Amino acid sequence: MTSLADLPAVERLPYDIARIRRDFPILKREVSSGARLVYLDNAATSQRPVQVLAEITRFYRDHNANIHRGVHTLSVEATELYEQARAKVARFIGAADPREIIFTHNTTESINLVAHGWARKHLQPGDEVVISEIEHHSNIVPWQMLRDERGITLKYIPMLPDGTLDLDAARSIITDRTRLVSITAMSNALGTIVPLDVIVARARAVGALVLVDGAQSVPHMPVDVQTLGSLGVDFLAFSGHKMLAPFGIGILWGRLPVLESMDPFMGGGDMILTVSMERSTWADVPAKFEAGTPNVGDAIALGAAVDYLSALGMDAVRRHEREITDYALRRLADVPGVTIFGVPDAERRGGVISFELDGVHPHDIGQVLDTKGVAIRTGHHCAQPVMLALNVPATARASFYIYNTTDEVDALASGLEEVGRFFGVRK
Ligand SMILES: Cc1ncc(COP(=O)(O)O)c(C=O)c1O
Repeated sequence: MTSLADLPAVERLPYDIARIRRDFPILKREVSSGARLVYLDNAATSQRPVQVLAEITRFYRDHNANIHRGVHTLSVEATELYEQARAKVARFIGAADPREIIFTHNTTESINLVAHGWARKHLQPGDEVVISEIEHHSNIVPWQMLRDERGITLKYIPMLPDGTLDLDAARSIITDRTRLVSITAMSNALGTIVPLDVIVARARAVGALVLVDGAQSVPHMPVDVQTLGSLGVDFLAFSGHKMLAPFGIGILWGRLPVLESMDPFMGGGDMILTVSMERSTWADVPAKFEAGTPNVGDAIALGAAVDYLSALGMDAVRRHEREITDYALRRLADVPGVTIFGVPDAERRGGVISFELDGVHPHDIGQVLDTKGVAIRTGHHCAQPVMLALNVPATARASFYIYNTTDEVDALASGLEEVGRFFGVRK
């Protein structure tokens, strides 16, 4: 009998990939060289299906109005759609109460909201914030700014040579002076999936709050804030644009009592209860954190994106990416001169593969691949500490999503073989 592992990867994919691809018209286009697009830059941003594009058009065509204050029909409809989108996002990540969902612009703003609204209020000089060496800049810079402003201490859990975190070191780095651990669930530069349970358990043991950067986990695997919350996670930050939704809509989930203990981030309309000439009082959560006119249309389109992913099932999304990543790890390992960074198996990594090609600058790799239609990312991936730890200035990175196929991995591999021949790579 043929075992699952013997089947070609494409036959093991958990859903009808051809049907999925039909929902993404952009995947049919040719790039400037005339080659068919092979989009492998999903860790930077995903593509959007027709269902999401239609939702944006439908909102502006049929319901467009400002929300919350209006009594006219359009305003009431727009408000309902906006709040329905909040409820959809809450259901998607298992939040008990839609008020725990704050709409922001992106993961970066969600993390900054915690830095300003919680940390500035609650942290004193000498208190410690712990992050890791594999964070995206958006989970490093806000804490450095806070350190310089407030005299807190910023500590890093180091990366091991295989791209995983040094969990033994984490145990001693998180101390009873640690007030917040802010940690990625998955590295965008290396794909490492972080064992949150170990780190969160240590944070909880010392009474620290925990923020999880879910920019690379929520779009790609099942994430349930009930489970995270019972481990001891207080905040989860993620971006719509990496999970089929438009740019400019992000999410901060927080435990309600913690959100209620926080100061607002920005002042202005919509976030107040009362305003006099002397002082103002704040609206309840979530309005307290959504000053000014929000990104109504894109929040509603995020609701459509969440519907799309829910219909696929996040277990299937993860299974698909694991298969593609497993295939790509094996396929790229056969390309002469390629070195793959990070954990060697698809079990402990998401759909991200960072690599180098012996002696060829990543930008050259990216440019030659583009002539074949293959879109990858090159550079430091907003994770310069990872590049320092790997001792490279930059890497080439291929990243996968629900619509990628093993044929596209083959196109990447044969493109790399050609880059290698062109630049005289021998190994
Ligand atoms: C792990 C991680 N965190 C944070 C971010 C920042 O996301 P955004 O640019 O949407 O704010 C990214 C973006 O690539 C990321 O991969």
